[in-house]
Amino acid sequence: MKNPQSAVTHYRKDYSTPNHRIDRTLLEFDLDAESTLVKSRLDFSPWHLQQAEGLPIVLDGEDLQLECVTLDGKLLDESLYQQTDTQLIIPNAPKQGTLEIAVRIRPSGNTRLEGLYMSNGNFFTQCEAQGFRRITYFPDRPDVLSRFTVTLRADQAAYPVTLSNGNLIDSQKLPDGKHRTVWEDPFPKPAYLFALVAGQFVCQEESITKSNGQPALLQVWVEPGNLDKTDFAMQSLKHAIEWDRQRFGLDLDLDRFMIVATADFNMGAMENKGLNIFNTKFVFANPQLATDIDFENVESVVGHEYFHNWTGNRVTCRDWFQLSLKEGLTVFRDQEFSADMLAKGLDAQQAASARAVKRIDDVKVLRAAQFPEDAGPMAHPIRPDSYQEINNFYTVTVYEKGAEVIRMQHTLLGEEQFQRGMRIYFDRHDGQAATCEDFVAAMETALQEIKPDQDLKQFRHWYSQAGTPNVSASWHYKADESELVLTLKQSCAPTPGQAEKPAFHIPVRIGLVSNTGLDLPLQLKSPKNALSGDILNFTETEQVFVFQGVAKGTVPSLFRGFSAPVQVRAEYSLEELVFLARHDNDPFNRWDAGQQVFTQAIFEIYQSSGDTSGKLVQAANLMMADLLEDPSLSDGFRALAIALPSENTLFELFDGLVDPVALHFARQTLREYLAACNQGPLLKLYQARATHTERYEYNAVAAGKRALKNASLAYLTVDEPGQSLARSQFLSADNMTDRLGALNLLAHNAEDAQSELDQFFNMFQKEALALDKWFMTQATTPASHPAGNPLERIQALLKHPAFNLKNPNRARSVLAAFAMQNPSVFHQHTGVGYQLWASLVIELNAINPQVAGRMARALDRWSKLTPSLQTQARAALEKINAHDGLSPDVHEIISKALG
Ligand code: ARG
Ligand code: ZN
Repeated sequence: MKNPQSAVTHYRKDYSTPNHRIDRTLLEFDLDAESTLVKSRLDFSPWHLQQAEGLPIVLDGEDLQLECVTLDGKLLDESLYQQTDTQLIIPNAPKQGTLEIAVRIRPSGNTRLEGLYMSNGNFFTQCEAQGFRRITYFPDRPDVLSRFTVTLRADQAAYPVTLSNGNLIDSQKLPDGKHRTVWEDPFPKPAYLFALVAGQFVCQEESITKSNGQPALLQVWVEPGNLDKTDFAMQSLKHAIEWDRQRFGLDLDLDRFMIVATADFNMGAMENKGLNIFNTKFVFANPQLATDIDFENVESVVGHEYFHNWTGNRVTCRDWFQLSLKEGLTVFRDQEFSADMLAKGLDAQQAASARAVKRIDDVKVLRAAQFPEDAGPMAHPIRPDSYQEINNFYTVTVYEKGAEVIRMQHTLLGEEQFQRGMRIYFDRHDGQAATCEDFVAAMETALQEIKPDQDLKQFRHWYSQAGTPNVSASWHYKADESELVLTLKQSCAPTPGQAEKPAFHIPVRIGLVSNTGLDLPLQLKSPKNALSGDILNFTETEQVFVFQGVAKGTVPSLFRGFSAPVQVRAEYSLEELVFLARHDNDPFNRWDAGQQVFTQAIFEIYQSSGDTSGKLVQAANLMMADLLEDPSLSDGFRALAIALPSENTLFELFDGLVDPVALHFARQTLREYLAACNQGPLLKLYQARATHTERYEYNAVAAGKRALKNASLAYLTVDEPGQSLARSQFLSADNMTDRLGALNLLAHNAEDAQSELDQFFNMFQKEALALDKWFMTQATTPASHPAGNPLERIQALLKHPAFNLKNPNRARSVLAAFAMQNPSVFHQHTGVGYQLWASLVIELNAINPQVAGRMARALDRWSKLTPSLQTQARAALEKINAHDGLSPDVHEIISKALG
């Protein structure tokens, strides 16, 4: 393990090109769990044509046992190369030649799940970002693109299926009970896109026809016994291929495209060229085992990895600072894919509602996870300037905020010019390793084709500046002129390394809602040219916008559809918020206005120590009653509209230091109050959706119906008769959405849910992903649970025979659930929650640094806690920090948190 005391910081500004290209890479694997032999043959040539002779060849490698190196056929003795813990360097290399290297590795001992590792007796690889260096010596950097041919030799009985990237060009039985396959990838690729899989698998396959008339074979590979869970992933893959063709004009460029599922995976999935490797969580889906959210996630992750084939693989990243080039763009693409799929086949109104539900879900993630990141010690621009451990930078900022930055460009250019920009981007960079700047430059060219006087100069700050901009909005009405004068101000708090930030170019989608609830036509008097369609270009620290022809009583609706990733403070009166929650024609803002009313009501309770008689709570209650009765709302939208903001979102929104335990109880108090006041309508909504049940189907309308049913039940289970309803829903459910929905509510609210928990366990004990849900349900039992002491339950879970810290999904189902999704227990005043977390992070650090690094982030926002909690938090952070043998991953997180 690298020594964190010597932790190096890598800087974006230090980029320099390598000395050599690797034009061809031949790899040969003799697969063996205890000792795998990896032989490589690398044909290298000078990076620059006129380059001098004698520059060193620099190869990365970690935890490799070197057997031999030859250069142009001659064995090199140790004086002719330098070997360190992390590199193999051949000084004085010729400009061009062939290197042959043999190393041995031990997959069975690889608990980090980076490089070549084993899961359930099968071989898998994970190379992004820097796992390939754990397989063999190689320039493990994304700007080195090479054409790979891979030979896999393995025992035929133990590992009958052996796969790698590209096309299968040879397959043979060997005399000694072994067999051999040879794979050739026609496209040059960086090492992080290399993959191999070997073992016992079965597959579902289908052939499709590409736009050029050629056939392509699609396969989804799983361990035996799981073929009944692959239909939806296969369907999603076909939809993704079709969608990318239709919307982006991009087709599959391979004859074979494979997805393989593994139960042990650090992240969601990986876009290896032609051989995507997935966490089972994002492949397996059938109604008995997967919730609506799981179905949605499978579709979006299958889409995401497929879309990487162009945005990531055909055009890759020059260096890891550019990660958002592929991730932000690909998340934007998968979000649009999901929205289009949800809206498919619906009438215009239902389609708009289905899209809004998707948008709200995405923004909820941003607010609950990315806003805190941007306000904490790990804050970084979507294109970071530095990192210690790149694995720590696969963040909600790079991914989700990165997608918002792409979305803003889409907003500024419009769909047609955005697609034009994409074509320019591929024309310029196909087959290359590019930068974020290359992408913006392509979009800028497309923008200037239609708007020659505009540019994206100021817009580029979104790439270089961290922090969530704060926008304050105020307005007044000039009755004599029928004008509405809107003042917008922007600021952005300092983040690590960035004290002052110039103003951002912020697209504000705006509407003016008249007191009859209709949108007025937008007539901007000044500044000239700041409005394009319904988008205001807000570019200065403070800017005044004057609209004319505005009727009295009109309310502005700002940042419709969440048109920019900013925190808005608008001077709405309570009446105006309630008005927008009822009348805004933009569904996102309509939802958001309602959430603001709920938020203020919860803060009112929090600050009055539990009083529900205040005017905000009363307003929230009236609004709730309205939402429950309004027949114009779709079920999916209404489910979101009646749900209270999450504790993590509330924590971030509160001005000042927070006690998460008290905040939980304040939210809980509002929930109980709303449930008591609206029991009749809630029961009616629930029963109307619980009695007529069709066979389970995953689509926007059916999922919306289940969501509203379970959102109503969530209120009703504060007591009876809701808990009895939940018990019978649990028993009679024919799908996981309803069964788990009921189980969660019972486990979190009922005095006793042991019988349901036991039944669930017995039903699903052979299904790892369902068991993860069982663990997670219990690990998120809040402090308000009537039987008390949820932490004891969590400690018991850790001792359960089915618990296993080595499996990332299982580890997350308890540790992340408890430390990140259960604030009232994690932040309990005794500090026991923090101590438990600290000891688990230390334990996981030795097994899997990457996952440990994630878990280590639970106290990122500790400086926003009340003083006595801060003292406890610091002690826990220091305990981790003092631990010997901390990985660079955990070290970076904890040292930044301690400041
Ligand atoms: N590129 C993958 C995806 O987003 C994620 C790979 C994560 N790897 C890592 N080392 N963090 O689809
Ligand atoms: Zn990705």
